[in-house]
Amino acid sequence: MSELNNIALKILSNGKGILATDESTGTMTKRLEDVNVPSTPENRLLFRETLFSSESMKNCIGGVILYDETIKQTSNLKKTIPELIFSSGAISGIKVDTGAKILANSPDEKITEGLDGLRERLKKYYKLGARFTKWRGVYIISNKYPSKLSIHSNAHALARYSALVQECGMVPIVEPEVLMDGNHSAEDCFNKTSEVIKKCFEELILNKVELAGTILKPNMILPGSNSNQKITNEEIANLTLKCLKESVPSEIPGIAFLSGGQTEKEATKNLNLINLNNNTDFIMSYSYGRALQQSALKFWSKDINNIKGTQDIFNHRTNMCTLAAQGKWSEELETK
Ligand code: 13P
Repeated sequence: MSELNNIALKILSNGKGILATDESTGTMTKRLEDVNVPSTPENRLLFRETLFSSESMKNCIGGVILYDETIKQTSNLKKTIPELIFSSGAISGIKVDTGAKILANSPDEKITEGLDGLRERLKKYYKLGARFTKWRGVYIISNKYPSKLSIHSNAHALARYSALVQECGMVPIVEPEVLMDGNHSAEDCFNKTSEVIKKCFEELILNKVELAGTILKPNMILPGSNSNQKITNEEIANLTLKCLKESVPSEIPGIAFLSGGQTEKEATKNLNLINLNNNTDFIMSYSYGRALQQSALKFWSKDINNIKGTQDIFNHRTNMCTLAAQGKWSEELETK
């Protein structure tokens, strides 16, 4: 087993998942302003370190994705953020793309940037304690999108990013997110997501990326958020499994889903059904942002010094997700 494969397995084994707290300052400001908390560096740190010092970090969270600001911050407990995360047994990761920009010659679509100077930035993040990274490509669905251009350009960028990350001794998370926005059907999502993922692996292989040292972070197969299609959670789980079984090479050790706008409960329930029906060799876990933080953030915003109350909510959420990553979640446990 290679060192990179070891890291990937350590992050995702035994029902552990990833806490995605890599919102850029712009996105985090929006999240905080939505709950009437001023977006200062101190408040961003306070919320995040409240989560990072929660009890459930030890048993549920294998990796935390950080943003550039956070990985350089020192917690109020006088540890650097990577030290705080490491003390609970989890591994620090870092978002290294610099965001999705308008794709030239297809202005409705986006291409993720950040390759220039990436090798040098990666070395700095490694020194700060990061052992895995994230890069997110985004794709929209409509009858003409995602275009071949968007599918090809984003796959190319994801592959070049992954190769550089592995060269630096870290595990790349490859995140091709086919957005839920739109009125498309689940079948459309299945077809487009399959095409996107297949192209990503074609490029990863061309770039000689070690697949055993790579984690895939895909969307689940869902109808568009404005679609009238009614589909059961079982159907979502089965379509998602079929897509991944057909599109992902068997060398990939683990898949960690994004929540992508699903509610906390939906994201948990769907993950549980995916694991109950898992007919692949892949570990199927989570790398949730909103579906791990939403309730905790809402509670915290009412009294930002109520650390214990915020952590209780976060602990419950992470426990539910870790049960779902093992197919052991139930409605009864959810509401207990
Ligand atoms: P969500 O789970 O909120 O979709 O965030 C995951 C993520 O890291 C998006 O890049």
